Formats: sequence, structure tokens, C-alpha cells
Amino acid sequence: MPKLMLALDVLDEFEAIKISEETSEYVDCIKIGYPLVLATDLGIVKRIKDKTGKEVICDFKVADIPSTNEKIAKLTLNYADGIICQGFVGPDSVKAIMDVAKEYNKKDPKNPKKVIMVTEMSHGGATSFMQPIANEIAKMAGDLKVNGIVAPSTRPARLKELKEIANNAFVISPGVGAQGGDLKEVLKVLDENDYVIVGRAIYLNENPKESAKKYKELL
Ligand code: C5P
Repeated sequence: MPKLMLALDVLDEFEAIKISEETSEYVDCIKIGYPLVLATDLGIVKRIKDKTGKEVICDFKVADIPSTNEKIAKLTLNYADGIICQGFVGPDSVKAIMDVAKEYNKKDPKNPKKVIMVTEMSHGGATSFMQPIANEIAKMAGDLKVNGIVAPSTRPARLKELKEIANNAFVISPGVGAQGGDLKEVLKVLDENDYVIVGRAIYLNENPKESAKKYKELL
């Protein structure tokens, strides 16, 4: 049974805290990205962690040269339990982030920071440029031993292939709910180390708690 990750892409702190508290019984991990951090500040990560006790992953899809990636990772992992980066920028850029995570993990081995790398995105446009190179990116994820990869629930056959290629990495997979991914097919591929990511289908629902409960039960 994969775990449930809430993509909390709301633009208001009050709403973010309210939804994360209401759904926390059913949600295993919370993913925060640019929408919420730009609408508030990076400290929102700590405030949500404090209110819910959940792991918070920052989805910044970091995609820069190694020295800039290093700076972004240092700032982010000071608060977050994990960070999402792009793989297409190459192994040196990803390694720069992994090195920062290792430094944090030396100081606090009980709460290891996670580095999660995007392979192929879940939207239609990802088939133009990302899909043709995604298998190689997944292979790099396995070689580098990143903790996890992002792969699409909108394309279960690709999800299966990328998970197999990336080897030991767990998978976090967006696309179920608003993007129309077929959860039944996704559940044939993912296991207990993996996460199904659901955003709008929970936070835009008139009753986010009920929706989170429904997804948790479906998983
Ligand atoms: O609202 P929805 O359930 O579609 O949210 C999906 C989340 O996953 C969003 O936060 C989106 O930015 C993110 N994401 C994605 N595809 C990727 C990586 C992240 O949809 N490959």
C-alpha cells in the first residue's frame, strides 16, 4: 500500500494550515512548492511541520548549476525534510544537492533529509522533451542513489518502467485526481515505500478531510 502525499498548492497561509491540520489523520507527508512558499515565506515549512508533525517535502524542482543548487538546498533543507530537484541538469548538479543533504544528515542522522529527482513530469507537455530522455534520467537516479524519483501517474506504463530503471529509489507519483490518472492502474505498480501525490482533488474539495480519507481508503 503506497502512502498519501498531499500537494498543498494553496496561496494562503490560513487555508494551508487549516487543510493540513484537517487532513493530517489521513496524509502521510505534505509537499509544498513555489505557490505556497512565494505566497508566504520559507518559514511556512516549519509552521506546517509544527502544526501537523508530518514530514514536509519542498517541491522546488531545482535545476541550476551545482553551486547555485547547493545554496538553494542549504536554505531549503534547513527547514524541509526533503527537496525535489530536476535530473535533466546532469549528475554534478544533483550531487551538489546530495552533498548538502549528507552534511545535514551527519548532524542529525535520526531525521535523514531526502533528495528526490524528477524523471518525467505528469502533464501532457512532458512528452515533448522530457519523455525521450526520462529513462536515462531514471538510470542516473539509480546510479547516484538518490532517495526517490518523481514519475507520472498519468502514464502507468511509464511509471512502471521508470520505477524499474531507478532501482532502489522510492517513487512519488503525481497525476491522480485533477490530472485524471487511473489510481487502480497506479496501484498495480507502486508499493509500500512509494507515495501517491494528490493536490487539487483534496484541497479544492469542499470537504478536504473527507477527500483525504477517501484517497487513503482507496490506497
Ligand atoms: O493538483 P494535482 O493533484 O494535479 O497536483 C500535482 C502536484 O504534483 C503539483 O504540486 C505539481 O506541481 C506536482 N508535480 C507534477 N508532476 C511532476 C512533478 C510534480 O504534477 N512530475
